[in-house]
Amino acid sequence: MNSAEIRSRWLKFFENGNSQGLTHTVVPSASLVADDPNLLLVNAGMVPFKPYFLGEIKPPFVRATSVQKCVRTLDIDEVGKTTRHASFFQMCGNFSFGDYFKEGAIKLAWELLTKPVDKGGYGFPESKLWVTVFQNDDEAAEIWHKVVGVPKERIQRRGMADNFWSMGVPGPCGPCSEIYYDRGEQYGKEGGPIADEDRYLEVWNLVFMQYNRGEGGTKEKFPILGELPAKNIDTGMGLERMAAILQGVDNIYEIDTTKIILDKATSIVGIKYGADKSADIRLRVVADHTRTAAFLIADGVIPGNEGRGYVLRRMMRRVIRNMRILGADKPVIKDLIESTIKAMGPQYPELNTDKNRILEIAIRSEEHTSELQSHVRISYAVFCLK
Ligand code: SER
Repeated sequence: MNSAEIRSRWLKFFENGNSQGLTHTVVPSASLVADDPNLLLVNAGMVPFKPYFLGEIKPPFVRATSVQKCVRTLDIDEVGKTTRHASFFQMCGNFSFGDYFKEGAIKLAWELLTKPVDKGGYGFPESKLWVTVFQNDDEAAEIWHKVVGVPKERIQRRGMADNFWSMGVPGPCGPCSEIYYDRGEQYGKEGGPIADEDRYLEVWNLVFMQYNRGEGGTKEKFPILGELPAKNIDTGMGLERMAAILQGVDNIYEIDTTKIILDKATSIVGIKYGADKSADIRLRVVADHTRTAAFLIADGVIPGNEGRGYVLRRMMRRVIRNMRILGADKPVIKDLIESTIKAMGPQYPELNTDKNRILEIAIRSEEHTSELQSHVRISYAVFCLK
């Protein structure tokens, strides 16, 4: 199932295609540039809806669904090395603003995941799915077991770090329940998500948004200011992870869309993907970061020395550096960005309409880094001589 199909099945199911008859308003992805003083970039599907959760603005709908562009750079050093970390990803989400809560969200997620492919679902075998709940969330555990029928041994409990979601900054938060897919013994040891998160891949996070997080603290411990005005639902299913599973590929860099960029990178440097582990990591970083850069530029970010501009500059520099190390000896940005537009344009037509501007900014920024390029070339030559 290609990425476009996964996306359209998602929106259709929530818009008007689920057996609970819960219709959702389809909301287009917001810009990556967050309208939030606490955030540089949109890093989760719920960000555009934050004022609704907090009760600051009355939502124009009680249920919504979206496929939101997101950028997360916290794990940037993991990109390319694991099968599942990306700096740009698309988060499919369904949201309830004081409407359905735990039972509704759990039943919706299970229905879409396990419904057969020929009936509009994703066709997951029930026996391959595991779930986690927050340590003391008996209610969620009970819904999974008694209402949905998940055997008790495939329901695991986890603490704050894993099963209590917040934006990392002040805002709505709450306990969550995650759904994992068992990719099989070739990916790691038995024992469910608490034992191995590479074998058991998280596909969907259901957040029961109930509290308001205050300033400060850590992932495990932070101040809770109180309850939100209503009990809400915020869920997130990573489109790229879902695509990797449904396309039977090993990692998110090899799915239909990202692979187009990865293939372009391999053809520029004339090497074979899959032949050398460290080169593969570099190629994946190039594919991931090029995509992030193209979308940042499309949403109005220009390379700079601080804030969002710096995020973009860092992405571009990492692309150039990795391509040089892989052997590229001429400018690469134009070809790579063009391949990104080719890969993502069908789902994001604005990339095509804005192609010339995106290319111009990307290429100009590469030229500005020519000093960096020669530095990298010299360091690499020195490295090879050693
Ligand atoms: N906000 C949650 C997440 O980003 C669910 O959408 O995982």
